Amino acid sequence: MTETAWMSGETAVAPDSVQALTKKVFVKTYGCQMNVYDSQRMADALAADGYASTTDIGDADLVLLNTCHIRERAAEKVYSELGRIRAIKAERASHGRETVIGVAGCVAQAEGEEIMRRAPVVDIVIGPQTYHRLPDAVRKARAGERVLETDYALEDKFEHLPQPKPAAVKNRGVTAFLTVQEGCDKFCTFCVVPYTRGSEVSRPVAQIIAEAERLAASGVREITLLGQNVNAWRAEGPDGRAWGLGELLFRLAEIPGVGRLRYTTSHPRDMNDTLIAAHRDLPILMPYLHLPVQSGSDGILKAMNRRHTADDYRRLIDRIRHVRPDIALSGDFIVGFPGETDADFEDTMRIVRDVTFVQAYSFKYSPRPGTPGADMAFHVDETIKDERLQRLQALLVRQQQDFQTSLVGRSADMLIERPGREPGQWVGRSPWLMPVILDEKPGEIGDIVDVRITRTGTNSLHAEAL
Ligand code: 5AD
Ligand code: SF4
Repeated sequence: MTETAWMSGETAVAPDSVQALTKKVFVKTYGCQMNVYDSQRMADALAADGYASTTDIGDADLVLLNTCHIRERAAEKVYSELGRIRAIKAERASHGRETVIGVAGCVAQAEGEEIMRRAPVVDIVIGPQTYHRLPDAVRKARAGERVLETDYALEDKFEHLPQPKPAAVKNRGVTAFLTVQEGCDKFCTFCVVPYTRGSEVSRPVAQIIAEAERLAASGVREITLLGQNVNAWRAEGPDGRAWGLGELLFRLAEIPGVGRLRYTTSHPRDMNDTLIAAHRDLPILMPYLHLPVQSGSDGILKAMNRRHTADDYRRLIDRIRHVRPDIALSGDFIVGFPGETDADFEDTMRIVRDVTFVQAYSFKYSPRPGTPGADMAFHVDETIKDERLQRLQALLVRQQQDFQTSLVGRSADMLIERPGREPGQWVGRSPWLMPVILDEKPGEIGDIVDVRITRTGTNSLHAEAL
Protein backbone atom coordinates (compact mmCIF):
# COMPACT_ATOMS: atom_id res chain seq x y z
CA MET A 1 0.00 0.00 0.00
CA THR A 2 1.77 3.10 -1.14
CA GLU A 3 -1.01 5.52 -1.93
CA THR A 4 -3.58 6.92 0.48
CA ALA A 5 -7.33 7.51 0.23
CA TRP A 6 -6.07 10.98 -0.09
CA MET A 7 -3.50 9.71 -2.59
CA SER A 8 -5.00 8.44 -5.79
CA GLY A 9 -2.10 7.07 -7.82
CA GLU A 10 -1.71 8.20 -11.37
CA THR A 11 -4.66 9.13 -13.54
CA ALA A 12 -5.50 10.93 -16.75
CA VAL A 13 -8.36 13.39 -17.17
CA ALA A 14 -11.26 11.76 -19.06
CA PRO A 15 -11.30 12.58 -22.76
CA ASP A 16 -13.54 15.47 -23.61
CA SER A 17 -16.74 14.83 -25.49
CA VAL A 18 -17.10 18.48 -26.34
CA GLN A 19 -16.78 19.08 -30.07
CA ALA A 20 -14.98 21.85 -31.92
CA LEU A 21 -11.83 21.72 -29.83
CA THR A 22 -8.87 21.81 -32.15
CA LYS A 23 -5.81 21.05 -30.04
CA LYS A 24 -5.20 18.23 -27.56
CA VAL A 25 -3.95 18.22 -23.99
CA PHE A 26 -2.71 15.19 -22.06
CA VAL A 27 -2.63 15.62 -18.29
CA LYS A 28 -0.97 13.05 -16.07
CA THR A 29 -1.89 13.37 -12.41
CA TYR A 30 0.18 12.13 -9.50
CA GLY A 31 -0.72 12.04 -5.82
CA CYS A 32 -3.79 13.20 -3.98
CA GLN A 33 -7.39 13.86 -4.94
CA MET A 34 -6.75 17.57 -4.89
CA ASN A 35 -4.38 17.07 -7.80
CA VAL A 36 -7.13 15.12 -9.59
CA TYR A 37 -9.44 18.09 -9.06
CA ASP A 38 -6.74 20.60 -10.11
CA SER A 39 -6.06 18.60 -13.29
CA GLN A 40 -9.73 18.79 -14.21
CA ARG A 41 -9.81 22.53 -13.57
CA MET A 42 -6.66 22.94 -15.72
CA ALA A 43 -8.35 20.94 -18.47
CA ASP A 44 -11.44 23.16 -18.12
CA ALA A 45 -9.32 26.31 -18.37
CA LEU A 46 -7.63 24.95 -21.48
CA ALA A 47 -10.93 23.80 -23.03
CA ALA A 48 -11.92 27.46 -23.11
CA ASP A 49 -8.80 27.95 -25.27
CA GLY A 50 -9.69 25.15 -27.67
CA TYR A 51 -7.90 22.19 -26.05
CA ALA A 52 -9.64 18.82 -25.83
CA SER A 53 -8.41 16.29 -23.25
CA THR A 54 -6.82 13.13 -24.59
CA THR A 55 -5.53 9.96 -22.93
CA ASP A 56 -3.06 9.40 -25.79
CA ILE A 57 0.18 11.22 -24.99
CA GLY A 58 1.51 10.81 -28.54
CA ASP A 59 -1.48 12.75 -29.84
CA ALA A 60 -1.07 15.70 -27.45
CA ASP A 61 -0.04 19.21 -28.46
CA LEU A 62 0.32 20.00 -24.77
CA VAL A 63 1.58 17.56 -22.12
CA LEU A 64 1.12 18.44 -18.46
CA LEU A 65 2.48 16.57 -15.48
CA ASN A 66 0.56 17.47 -12.34
CA THR A 67 3.05 16.34 -9.73
CA CYS A 68 3.13 15.31 -6.07
CA HIS A 69 5.93 16.04 -3.63
CA ILE A 70 4.78 14.15 -0.53
CA ARG A 71 7.14 11.24 -1.00
CA GLU A 72 10.85 10.86 -1.40
CA ARG A 73 12.20 10.71 -4.92
CA ALA A 74 9.10 12.51 -6.21
CA ALA A 75 11.28 14.91 -8.18
CA GLU A 76 13.42 12.09 -9.63
CA LYS A 77 10.26 10.39 -10.87
CA VAL A 78 9.29 13.60 -12.67
CA TYR A 79 12.72 13.95 -14.29
CA SER A 80 12.67 10.40 -15.59
CA GLU A 81 9.15 10.89 -16.95
CA LEU A 82 10.38 14.07 -18.66
CA GLY A 83 13.11 12.00 -20.31
CA ARG A 84 10.43 9.76 -21.81
CA ILE A 85 8.39 12.77 -22.90
CA ARG A 86 11.45 14.32 -24.55
CA ALA A 87 11.56 11.32 -26.90
CA ILE A 88 7.86 11.70 -27.69
CA LYS A 89 8.36 15.41 -28.39
CA ALA A 90 11.28 14.62 -30.74
CA GLU A 91 9.22 11.99 -32.54
CA ARG A 92 6.34 14.43 -33.02
CA ALA A 93 8.76 17.16 -34.14
CA SER A 94 10.05 14.82 -36.88
CA HIS A 95 6.47 14.91 -38.24
CA GLY A 96 6.36 18.68 -37.98
CA ARG A 97 4.15 18.66 -34.87
CA GLU A 98 4.88 20.98 -31.99
CA THR A 99 4.54 19.84 -28.36
CA VAL A 100 4.43 22.13 -25.33
CA ILE A 101 5.54 20.51 -22.06
CA GLY A 102 4.40 21.77 -18.66
CA VAL A 103 5.12 20.69 -15.09
CA ALA A 104 2.46 21.66 -12.54
CA GLY A 105 1.67 20.74 -8.95
CA CYS A 106 3.79 20.46 -5.83
CA VAL A 107 7.11 19.42 -7.41
CA ALA A 108 6.76 22.45 -9.70
CA GLN A 109 6.20 24.63 -6.65
CA ALA A 110 9.10 23.12 -4.70
CA GLU A 111 11.67 22.77 -7.50
CA GLY A 112 10.75 25.73 -9.74
CA GLU A 113 13.95 27.04 -11.37
CA GLU A 114 15.69 23.71 -10.86
CA ILE A 115 13.27 22.02 -13.28
CA MET A 116 13.93 24.71 -15.87
CA ARG A 117 17.66 24.19 -15.44
CA ARG A 118 17.72 20.38 -15.41
CA ALA A 119 15.05 19.75 -18.03
CA PRO A 120 15.41 22.05 -21.05
CA VAL A 121 12.50 20.17 -22.66
CA VAL A 122 10.12 21.86 -20.20
CA ASP A 123 8.37 24.98 -21.45
CA ILE A 124 6.18 25.77 -18.44
CA VAL A 125 6.56 25.32 -14.68
CA ILE A 126 3.39 26.34 -12.87
CA GLY A 127 2.46 25.98 -9.19
CA PRO A 128 -0.80 24.87 -7.57
CA GLN A 129 -1.76 28.45 -6.68
CA THR A 130 -1.19 29.91 -10.13
CA TYR A 131 -2.64 27.43 -12.61
CA HIS A 132 -5.45 29.82 -13.60
CA ARG A 133 -2.66 31.52 -15.58
CA LEU A 134 -1.99 28.32 -17.51
CA PRO A 135 -3.76 29.31 -20.77
CA ASP A 136 -1.69 32.48 -20.84
CA ALA A 137 1.50 30.51 -20.10
CA VAL A 138 0.69 28.11 -22.95
CA ARG A 139 0.22 30.97 -25.38
CA LYS A 140 3.61 32.38 -24.35
CA ALA A 141 5.24 28.95 -24.64
CA ARG A 142 3.85 28.49 -28.14
CA ALA A 143 5.48 31.82 -29.00
CA GLY A 144 8.81 30.41 -27.86
CA GLU A 145 9.04 31.66 -24.26
CA ARG A 146 9.84 29.52 -21.21
CA VAL A 147 7.44 30.37 -18.40
CA LEU A 148 7.94 29.99 -14.64
CA GLU A 149 4.81 30.75 -12.56
CA THR A 150 5.36 29.67 -8.98
CA ASP A 151 4.71 32.82 -6.95
CA TYR A 152 1.80 32.54 -4.57
CA ALA A 153 -0.89 34.36 -6.50
CA LEU A 154 -2.39 37.45 -4.94
CA GLU A 155 -5.64 36.93 -6.81
CA ASP A 156 -8.12 34.10 -6.15
CA LYS A 157 -7.49 31.49 -8.82
CA PHE A 158 -11.03 30.14 -8.53
CA GLU A 159 -12.43 33.55 -9.53
CA HIS A 160 -10.35 33.34 -12.71
CA LEU A 161 -10.98 29.75 -13.73
CA PRO A 162 -13.66 29.12 -16.34
CA GLN A 163 -16.42 26.71 -15.37
CA PRO A 164 -16.48 23.31 -17.03
CA LYS A 165 -19.15 22.74 -19.67
CA PRO A 166 -22.05 20.60 -18.33
CA ALA A 167 -21.13 18.00 -20.99
CA ALA A 168 -17.58 17.77 -19.62
CA VAL A 169 -18.91 17.30 -16.06
CA LYS A 170 -21.34 14.60 -17.25
CA ASN A 171 -18.49 12.84 -18.98
CA ARG A 172 -16.59 12.60 -15.69
CA GLY A 173 -19.33 10.62 -14.00
CA VAL A 174 -21.75 10.91 -11.09
CA THR A 175 -19.14 11.55 -8.41
CA ALA A 176 -17.05 14.70 -8.19
CA PHE A 177 -14.46 16.44 -6.08
CA LEU A 178 -14.88 20.02 -4.96
CA THR A 179 -11.93 21.81 -3.38
CA VAL A 180 -13.11 24.04 -0.53
CA GLN A 181 -9.84 24.62 1.28
CA GLU A 182 -6.17 24.56 0.42
CA GLY A 183 -2.92 24.72 2.26
CA CYS A 184 -1.98 23.88 5.80
CA ASP A 185 -0.87 25.79 8.89
CA LYS A 186 -0.35 22.73 11.06
CA PHE A 187 3.33 22.12 10.30
CA CYS A 188 3.51 18.47 11.23
CA THR A 189 7.26 17.98 11.40
CA PHE A 190 7.33 15.23 8.74
CA CYS A 191 5.27 17.03 6.11
CA VAL A 192 6.10 19.19 3.08
CA VAL A 193 2.56 20.36 2.44
CA PRO A 194 2.75 23.65 4.37
CA TYR A 195 5.76 24.53 2.20
CA THR A 196 4.37 23.44 -1.18
CA ARG A 197 0.72 24.39 -0.82
CA GLY A 198 1.21 27.37 1.46
CA SER A 199 -0.94 28.50 4.36
CA GLU A 200 -4.60 27.66 4.90
CA VAL A 201 -7.02 29.35 2.55
CA SER A 202 -10.79 28.74 2.55
CA ARG A 203 -12.99 29.38 -0.45
CA PRO A 204 -16.02 31.60 0.23
CA VAL A 205 -19.42 29.99 0.85
CA ALA A 206 -21.17 31.46 -2.20
CA GLN A 207 -18.45 30.15 -4.55
CA ILE A 208 -18.70 26.65 -3.09
CA ILE A 209 -22.50 26.54 -3.21
CA ALA A 210 -22.52 27.77 -6.81
CA GLU A 211 -20.01 25.08 -7.82
CA ALA A 212 -21.95 22.35 -5.98
CA GLU A 213 -25.21 23.47 -7.62
CA ARG A 214 -23.58 23.36 -11.04
CA LEU A 215 -22.25 19.86 -10.38
CA ALA A 216 -25.66 18.64 -9.19
CA ALA A 217 -27.38 20.21 -12.22
CA SER A 218 -24.97 18.31 -14.49
CA GLY A 219 -25.87 14.97 -12.91
CA VAL A 220 -23.33 14.61 -10.10
CA ARG A 221 -24.87 12.79 -7.11
CA GLU A 222 -21.92 12.41 -4.77
CA ILE A 223 -19.65 15.32 -3.89
CA THR A 224 -16.42 14.95 -1.94
CA LEU A 225 -15.22 18.20 -0.42
CA LEU A 226 -11.47 18.45 -0.59
CA GLY A 227 -8.84 20.25 1.43
CA GLN A 228 -5.36 19.49 2.71
CA ASN A 229 -7.00 20.26 6.02
CA VAL A 230 -10.60 20.26 4.93
CA ASN A 231 -12.11 20.49 8.40
CA ALA A 232 -10.10 23.65 9.05
CA TRP A 233 -12.30 25.31 6.41
CA ARG A 234 -13.93 28.45 7.78
CA ALA A 235 -15.63 31.45 6.24
CA GLU A 236 -18.38 33.93 6.90
CA GLY A 237 -21.80 32.35 6.40
CA PRO A 238 -24.71 34.03 4.59
CA ASP A 239 -26.17 34.60 8.08
CA GLY A 240 -23.12 36.74 8.95
CA ARG A 241 -21.86 34.15 11.46
CA ALA A 242 -18.52 32.34 11.32
CA TRP A 243 -19.09 29.02 9.57
CA GLY A 244 -17.03 25.88 9.81
CA LEU A 245 -17.20 22.73 7.73
CA GLY A 246 -20.20 21.45 9.75
CA GLU A 247 -22.34 24.47 8.84
CA LEU A 248 -21.21 24.18 5.22
CA LEU A 249 -22.23 20.51 5.06
CA PHE A 250 -25.70 21.30 6.46
CA ARG A 251 -26.12 23.93 3.73
CA LEU A 252 -24.82 21.75 0.89
CA ALA A 253 -27.19 18.95 1.96
CA GLU A 254 -30.09 21.25 0.96
CA ILE A 255 -29.05 21.37 -2.71
CA PRO A 256 -31.53 19.40 -4.83
CA GLY A 257 -29.89 16.42 -6.52
CA VAL A 258 -26.99 16.06 -4.08
CA GLY A 259 -27.45 12.53 -2.77
CA ARG A 260 -24.20 11.98 -0.91
CA LEU A 261 -21.53 14.09 0.73
CA ARG A 262 -18.03 13.26 1.91
CA TYR A 263 -14.98 15.24 2.92
CA THR A 264 -11.27 14.54 3.07
CA THR A 265 -8.69 14.88 4.55
CA SER A 266 -9.12 15.99 8.11
CA HIS A 267 -7.10 16.71 11.22
CA PRO A 268 -8.33 15.49 14.63
CA ARG A 269 -7.93 18.94 16.13
CA ASP A 270 -10.49 20.45 13.76
CA MET A 271 -13.36 18.01 14.47
CA ASN A 272 -15.67 20.48 16.21
CA ASP A 273 -19.17 19.99 17.69
CA THR A 274 -21.08 21.15 14.60
CA LEU A 275 -19.11 18.82 12.37
CA ILE A 276 -19.85 15.92 14.69
CA ALA A 277 -23.51 16.99 14.74
CA ALA A 278 -23.48 16.85 10.92
CA HIS A 279 -22.50 13.19 11.18
CA ARG A 280 -25.47 12.70 13.52
CA ASP A 281 -28.09 14.68 11.59
CA LEU A 282 -27.22 14.31 7.91
CA PRO A 283 -27.99 10.86 6.50
CA ILE A 284 -26.40 11.92 3.20
CA LEU A 285 -23.08 12.52 4.92
CA MET A 286 -21.56 9.09 4.30
CA PRO A 287 -20.65 7.01 7.37
CA TYR A 288 -16.98 7.00 6.44
CA LEU A 289 -14.31 9.25 7.84
CA HIS A 290 -10.65 9.55 6.92
CA LEU A 291 -9.07 10.88 10.11
CA PRO A 292 -5.31 10.29 10.21
CA VAL A 293 -3.70 9.72 13.61
CA GLN A 294 -0.15 8.91 12.33
CA SER A 295 1.04 7.35 15.60
CA GLY A 296 -0.33 5.98 18.88
CA SER A 297 2.57 7.24 21.00
CA ASP A 298 2.22 10.53 22.85
CA GLY A 299 5.96 11.17 22.63
CA ILE A 300 5.99 10.67 18.86
CA LEU A 301 2.77 12.66 18.38
CA LYS A 302 4.45 15.50 20.23
CA ALA A 303 7.62 15.21 18.13
CA MET A 304 5.41 15.20 15.03
CA ASN A 305 3.76 18.41 16.29
CA ARG A 306 0.31 16.84 15.96
CA ARG A 307 -0.82 18.74 19.05
CA HIS A 308 -3.07 16.01 20.44
CA THR A 309 -2.50 12.84 22.45
CA ALA A 310 -3.47 9.29 21.63
CA ASP A 311 -6.23 9.47 24.24
CA ASP A 312 -7.56 12.72 22.75
CA TYR A 313 -7.96 10.76 19.51
CA ARG A 314 -9.64 7.82 21.26
CA ARG A 315 -12.09 10.16 23.02
CA LEU A 316 -12.85 11.94 19.76
CA ILE A 317 -13.61 8.65 18.02
CA ASP A 318 -15.88 7.68 20.94
CA ARG A 319 -17.82 10.92 20.51
CA ILE A 320 -18.22 10.43 16.76
CA ARG A 321 -19.25 6.78 17.18
CA HIS A 322 -21.71 7.79 19.87
CA VAL A 323 -23.65 9.92 17.35
CA ARG A 324 -22.99 7.75 14.29
CA PRO A 325 -22.40 4.16 15.47
CA ASP A 326 -22.03 2.78 11.94
CA ILE A 327 -19.20 5.13 10.96
CA ALA A 328 -16.24 3.42 9.32
CA LEU A 329 -12.83 4.91 9.97
CA SER A 330 -9.84 5.24 7.74
CA GLY A 331 -6.44 6.55 8.75
CA ASP A 332 -2.83 7.30 7.85
CA PHE A 333 0.12 5.98 9.84
CA ILE A 334 3.83 6.62 9.81
CA VAL A 335 6.27 4.11 11.30
CA GLY A 336 9.89 4.86 12.13
CA PHE A 337 9.58 8.57 12.81
CA PRO A 338 12.90 9.76 14.36
CA GLY A 339 13.17 8.58 17.95
CA GLU A 340 10.41 5.94 17.64
CA THR A 341 11.21 3.12 20.09
CA ASP A 342 9.74 -0.39 20.20
CA ALA A 343 7.41 0.83 22.96
CA ASP A 344 6.26 3.77 20.83
CA PHE A 345 5.53 1.43 17.97
CA GLU A 346 3.58 -0.89 20.28
CA ASP A 347 1.46 2.14 21.23
CA THR A 348 0.62 2.55 17.53
CA MET A 349 -0.36 -1.14 17.31
CA ARG A 350 -2.50 -0.65 20.42
CA ILE A 351 -4.41 2.36 19.10
CA VAL A 352 -5.12 0.46 15.88
CA ARG A 353 -6.48 -2.47 17.92
CA ASP A 354 -8.55 -0.12 20.11
CA VAL A 355 -10.04 2.01 17.36
CA THR A 356 -10.25 -0.44 14.40
CA PHE A 357 -9.93 0.92 10.88
CA VAL A 358 -11.73 -0.33 7.78
CA GLN A 359 -9.11 1.17 5.53
CA ALA A 360 -5.67 2.57 6.26
CA TYR A 361 -2.54 3.79 4.62
CA SER A 362 0.78 3.27 6.32
CA PHE A 363 4.21 4.52 5.39
CA LYS A 364 7.77 4.29 6.51
CA TYR A 365 8.93 7.71 7.59
CA SER A 366 11.00 9.34 4.87
CA PRO A 367 12.88 12.54 5.69
CA ARG A 368 11.75 15.44 3.53
CA PRO A 369 14.42 18.12 3.10
CA GLY A 370 13.38 21.40 4.67
CA THR A 371 11.04 19.85 7.23
CA PRO A 372 12.02 19.78 10.95
CA GLY A 373 11.81 15.97 11.07
CA ALA A 374 14.68 15.64 8.61
CA ASP A 375 17.03 17.34 11.09
CA MET A 376 15.94 15.36 14.14
CA ALA A 377 18.26 12.97 15.93
CA PHE A 378 17.84 9.18 16.22
CA HIS A 379 16.66 8.24 12.76
CA VAL A 380 15.32 4.71 12.78
CA ASP A 381 17.11 1.95 10.92
CA GLU A 382 15.47 1.00 7.58
CA THR A 383 15.25 -2.69 8.50
CA ILE A 384 13.40 -1.81 11.72
CA LYS A 385 11.07 0.46 9.74
CA ASP A 386 10.43 -2.45 7.36
CA GLU A 387 9.61 -4.85 10.20
CA ARG A 388 7.29 -2.38 11.89
CA LEU A 389 5.53 -1.54 8.65
CA GLN A 390 4.95 -5.22 7.92
CA ARG A 391 3.46 -5.86 11.35
CA LEU A 392 1.26 -2.78 11.20
CA GLN A 393 0.03 -3.53 7.70
CA ALA A 394 -0.77 -7.12 8.61
CA LEU A 395 -2.98 -5.85 11.43
CA LEU A 396 -4.61 -3.20 9.25
CA VAL A 397 -5.29 -5.66 6.43
CA ARG A 398 -6.89 -8.05 8.93
CA GLN A 399 -9.15 -5.29 10.20
CA GLN A 400 -10.11 -4.35 6.65
CA GLN A 401 -10.95 -7.97 5.83
CA ASP A 402 -12.92 -8.39 9.06
CA PHE A 403 -14.96 -5.33 8.18
CA GLN A 404 -15.69 -6.52 4.66
CA THR A 405 -16.66 -9.98 5.92
CA SER A 406 -18.99 -8.40 8.48
CA LEU A 407 -20.89 -6.74 5.62
CA VAL A 408 -21.88 -10.01 3.94
CA GLY A 409 -25.64 -10.53 4.26
CA ARG A 410 -26.22 -6.89 5.17
CA SER A 411 -28.08 -4.38 3.03
CA ALA A 412 -26.52 -1.11 1.99
CA ASP A 413 -27.09 1.68 -0.49
CA MET A 414 -25.10 1.86 -3.68
CA LEU A 415 -24.62 4.73 -6.10
CA ILE A 416 -24.71 3.27 -9.61
CA GLU A 417 -21.66 4.57 -11.47
CA ARG A 418 -20.97 2.63 -14.65
CA PRO A 419 -21.18 -0.68 -16.49
CA GLY A 420 -18.71 -3.27 -15.18
CA ARG A 421 -15.96 -5.16 -16.99
CA GLU A 422 -18.05 -8.27 -17.67
CA PRO A 423 -21.15 -7.95 -19.88
CA GLY A 424 -24.24 -7.34 -17.76
CA GLN A 425 -22.21 -6.22 -14.74
CA TRP A 426 -22.76 -2.88 -13.02
CA VAL A 427 -20.39 -1.07 -10.71
CA GLY A 428 -21.36 1.33 -7.98
CA ARG A 429 -19.97 2.84 -4.84
CA SER A 430 -20.79 1.71 -1.34
CA PRO A 431 -21.15 4.16 1.56
CA TRP A 432 -17.60 3.07 2.52
CA LEU A 433 -16.05 4.03 -0.86
CA MET A 434 -15.39 0.41 -1.81
CA PRO A 435 -16.81 -0.47 -5.22
CA VAL A 436 -19.88 -2.72 -5.31
CA ILE A 437 -20.36 -5.11 -8.24
CA LEU A 438 -23.79 -6.33 -9.36
CA ASP A 439 -24.65 -8.92 -12.01
CA GLU A 440 -27.84 -7.15 -13.07
CA LYS A 441 -28.86 -3.60 -13.83
CA PRO A 442 -30.37 -2.28 -10.62
CA GLY A 443 -31.40 1.14 -12.00
CA GLU A 444 -29.97 4.00 -13.99
CA ILE A 445 -26.50 5.53 -13.63
CA GLY A 446 -26.72 8.08 -10.83
CA ASP A 447 -29.47 6.22 -8.95
CA ILE A 448 -28.88 5.30 -5.34
CA VAL A 449 -30.36 1.85 -4.78
CA ASP A 450 -30.59 -0.67 -1.95
CA VAL A 451 -28.55 -3.83 -2.37
CA ARG A 452 -27.60 -6.81 -0.26
CA ILE A 453 -23.91 -7.66 0.02
CA THR A 454 -23.41 -11.28 -1.02
CA ARG A 455 -19.64 -11.70 -0.87
CA THR A 456 -16.38 -9.77 -0.76
CA GLY A 457 -13.67 -9.52 -3.41
CA THR A 458 -10.11 -8.29 -2.88
CA ASN A 459 -10.99 -4.64 -2.84
CA SER A 460 -14.64 -4.73 -3.76
CA LEU A 461 -18.00 -6.04 -2.64
CA HIS A 462 -20.41 -8.19 -4.63
CA ALA A 463 -24.12 -7.58 -4.13
CA GLU A 464 -27.62 -8.34 -5.38
CA ALA A 465 -30.36 -5.79 -5.95
CA LEU A 466 -33.15 -5.68 -3.37
N1 5AD B 1 7.17 10.24 5.48
C1 5AD B 1 6.21 9.28 5.50
N2 5AD B 1 4.91 9.51 5.35
C2 5AD B 1 4.51 10.79 5.16
N3 5AD B 1 3.29 11.33 4.98
C3 5AD B 1 3.45 12.66 4.81
N4 5AD B 1 4.74 13.00 4.89
C4 5AD B 1 5.43 11.85 5.11
C5 5AD B 1 6.81 11.55 5.28
N5 5AD B 1 7.74 12.49 5.28
C6 5AD B 1 2.06 10.56 5.02
C7 5AD B 1 1.18 10.96 6.23
C8 5AD B 1 0.09 11.76 5.60
C9 5AD B 1 -0.03 11.08 4.25
C10 5AD B 1 -0.74 11.86 3.20
O1 5AD B 1 1.30 10.84 3.86
O2 5AD B 1 0.69 9.80 6.84
O3 5AD B 1 -1.12 11.72 6.35
FE1 SF4 C 1 0.88 17.78 6.44
FE2 SF4 C 1 0.12 17.78 9.01
FE3 SF4 C 1 -0.78 19.68 7.35
FE4 SF4 C 1 -1.66 17.16 7.10
S1 SF4 C 1 -1.98 18.49 8.89
S2 SF4 C 1 -0.99 18.53 5.43
S3 SF4 C 1 0.14 15.99 7.63
S4 SF4 C 1 1.35 19.38 7.97
